[in-house]
Amino acid sequence: MAAIAAPRLLRAVPIVVLCSLLLHSTQHVLAFKEHEFKKCAQTSFCSRNRNVPQGANFEIIPASISLNTATLTATLLNKPYGKHLQLTLTSHADGFVRLMVDESPSVGRYQVPSDILISGWENKKQGFTENSRTASSITLTTGETKLELNFQPFTLAITVKGQPALQINSRNLFNFEHRRQKQDSDPAGYWEESWGGHTDSKPKGPEALSLDLVFPGFQHVYGIPERATSLSLRATNGAAPYGEPYRLYNLDVFEYLDDHPFGLYGSIPMMLAHKKGLTLGVLWLNSAEMFVDVVKERGQVGSQWVAESGIVDLFVFTAGSPAGVLAAYARLAGPSAMPQLFSLGYHQCRWNYKDEADVKAVDAGFDTHDIPYDVLWLDIEHTNGKRYLTWDSSLFPSPAPMQLDLASRGRRMVTIVDPHVKRDPGYYVFAEAEAAGHYVKNKYNTDFDGWCWPGSSSYLDVTSPAVRQWWAQQFTLDRYSGSTPHLYIWNDMNEPSVFNGPEITMPKDNLHAGGVEHRDTHNLYGVYYHMATAEGLQLRGQQADPQDGDRPFVLSRAFFTGTQRVGPIWTGDNAAQWSHLRVSVPMVLSLGLAGLPNVGADVGGFFGNPDAELLTRWYQLGAYYPFFRGHAHLETQRREPWLFGPEATARIRAAIRTRYSLLPYIYTLFRAANTSGQPILRPLWFEFPEHEELFAVDEEFLAGPAMLVKPVVAPGVGQVEVTLPGGARWYDAATGALVPPAAKTKSHRVQVTLDAIPVYYRGGHIVPRRERPRRSTAAQAADPLTLVVALDEQGGAEGELYMDDGRSFAFQRGGYLHRRFVFRSMKLVSSAQQVPAGGVPEGTLTLPVSIERVVFLGLPPSRRGYKAVVGGSRQAVPLEAGPLSLVAAPGAEAALVLRKPDLPVSHDWEVEIVAV
Ligand SMILES: *[C@@H]1O[C@H](CO)[C@@H](O)[C@H](O)[C@H]1NC(C)=O
Repeated sequence: MAAIAAPRLLRAVPIVVLCSLLLHSTQHVLAFKEHEFKKCAQTSFCSRNRNVPQGANFEIIPASISLNTATLTATLLNKPYGKHLQLTLTSHADGFVRLMVDESPSVGRYQVPSDILISGWENKKQGFTENSRTASSITLTTGETKLELNFQPFTLAITVKGQPALQINSRNLFNFEHRRQKQDSDPAGYWEESWGGHTDSKPKGPEALSLDLVFPGFQHVYGIPERATSLSLRATNGAAPYGEPYRLYNLDVFEYLDDHPFGLYGSIPMMLAHKKGLTLGVLWLNSAEMFVDVVKERGQVGSQWVAESGIVDLFVFTAGSPAGVLAAYARLAGPSAMPQLFSLGYHQCRWNYKDEADVKAVDAGFDTHDIPYDVLWLDIEHTNGKRYLTWDSSLFPSPAPMQLDLASRGRRMVTIVDPHVKRDPGYYVFAEAEAAGHYVKNKYNTDFDGWCWPGSSSYLDVTSPAVRQWWAQQFTLDRYSGSTPHLYIWNDMNEPSVFNGPEITMPKDNLHAGGVEHRDTHNLYGVYYHMATAEGLQLRGQQADPQDGDRPFVLSRAFFTGTQRVGPIWTGDNAAQWSHLRVSVPMVLSLGLAGLPNVGADVGGFFGNPDAELLTRWYQLGAYYPFFRGHAHLETQRREPWLFGPEATARIRAAIRTRYSLLPYIYTLFRAANTSGQPILRPLWFEFPEHEELFAVDEEFLAGPAMLVKPVVAPGVGQVEVTLPGGARWYDAATGALVPPAAKTKSHRVQVTLDAIPVYYRGGHIVPRRERPRRSTAAQAADPLTLVVALDEQGGAEGELYMDDGRSFAFQRGGYLHRRFVFRSMKLVSSAQQVPAGGVPEGTLTLPVSIERVVFLGLPPSRRGYKAVVGGSRQAVPLEAGPLSLVAAPGAEAALVLRKPDLPVSHDWEVEIVAV
């Protein structure tokens, strides 16, 4: 949760008084304290680089160019200063090129450590071919990518598959501030900068960089999360608040607004540009504070990226398609972790479940009301005085039996563990880390002391591998007292949040291992803390099962590139407002496009009290979030799903059951994320990249390739406009009814009730489901499956099913099954899915699970109906008109159902459908 009170208050008011103030405040008025955060104009490096006419200051020295297979190097001259830069351009077999620019000779500028990416990618190069060289330019090709490097001034134009894709420095906004000696004539802000009562000493002086990236012919760019704004990024030269550049600086933003360019808790400096025929990705791997301006003019999108320090390290993803760009990103930064199956169930959280009796009652409430859930969460109040990894012994006297009790019903517990450590010599974590010198230092090189939940706190220096290793060891069962193998972790406040720091974070002149300034590494703090915690759970799992281990589950709030390999994030402290429900969709989609698919927003909204309608609509949408958790602020009224009357309870139950019924499909989507970086939720254009009219749609989305979801984001709505992409077939997922097909994308007016939101199956796809209502994922493990076969215009459909033990790493040794289903020429065939390239072993798992129903949508009318002949057998079974789902409303009979074919999920089989 966010800084609950303004930091100024916290400094002045004793904590006891403060708490009682908070508990007694009745009306909660949302207030984003804009003045607590810096704007570009209040930030020296941003204001001096933003829109400053640079002139043609940078030139390549032609004689310096050297080309060696996949690497071109050249000297770049900064003319006004007579200084040199080293430019390196490399081509990689994995679908990207890389541009690096650093000072020459090197002055030891900060570079993002290699463990933020995966290992081995640097060796997979793909040679350049030199096409032409003149006194003013050199042209190279690699695969289908062409690069034209112009010398005076320096520009680089990239063409992909014959289409202009990217221009670097075509507007001459490139800039590079060389390290320098202090001069008397230096303007204010160069060497010291004060803001909000804090002074940043800036010992290295100005060292900012500016990148000028133009996407020719593109109208839309996406990505650079995290912020609450539209999917297609708006220009930043517009009316307030869109006159400010997008900011990438991980911050604990109290009560953020739902429509604002401001940067929130995490940053991924990855942008996608998309037009008909081409998708391009760019990643500037830099962990310092960054601002990104977007302008849209003359049929192109221009962007200027300004970073406070570091080097230019730009990756350009040239695969050409949306899926290809994200697959290439995954080959560089790693694919998303395969989650435990339980973590894809529903999570019940609140600040705070008060004590063991409360935990028992909430857990029992789910069973009493027949609502499935998998995980119960404990926020900061479960600890002994905010000393993480300890328990409040009066509220939680027997934490291990409590967890074992939950586990006896197949459920898990999550506790919160934050990176600030209470400065209490009697607290073992504090004392050990202090003795070992594991804390971040202030500018005087003594342990930094900042204010957070426990009061005076130290912060683990997780940028150091040794500190991460030590931190990981704290999670073994013998170290974390009161923990059991059923306990998983939540990392909050890891931006890091420092209540009395500048902008509620750490001073930039704080020092990390190796004398690195916090300025350089700020945006990495969160991912490193998350990584170290997940390594802790991995270690615990290895101790229990040295061969297969236990996949970690750690939720984080702060993130960066690389977080996708560690675990999920959530979108932080949202509010119980319709606008926050609405903006959660573009937020989740943007994160997926930036290679971080396992995300969700707090269902119900963290601040404030949702009414039954808002809460119901939120569950109906949340059932499709990759990470599905209800959470609420300390001051809010209780809102467990059964507290809003029997009708709301029934609707929320149905929404959560929908989620559980889709888990076979969702888990299969996570496998695609795990092998090839594909997002779970996708903007419509991701699947229909040629449909220009969809490029800005962000009020609806696709869950994987096969389902379209239209959330209802306003109260009292009786009908909604649903945009259905043209040229595809769409079937109402509640009734199975075919929407009249249209060649062009159409907006359909659809009646809605409070019972459900509009969801559609996409023709041409097969979706595996599990229909039997159960109380948790564990209870579903042996359940049979249903296949929904939604036919396209040609009467065909395809789909996949991935299954494994749902918890260990055995799948990496082949302990999984992955089936491919194809329906063509009236024959449904199950075969082994081909193994993706890249060292994934063949699946060898067989499971005693069968397919109990096959539901066909869109079979052509047949006067006397159809029968099915199951492979080998001579018996034909009639298809029956019947409800789409076992739990579907009566009357929903547009589907033809094959009942009880008992097809073994692990084996090859065929089913032929014949007209009677
Ligand atoms: C999939 O997820 C696992 C577990 O997080 C991870 O170790 C692995 O690198 C990921 N990718 C593949 C291809 O298995």
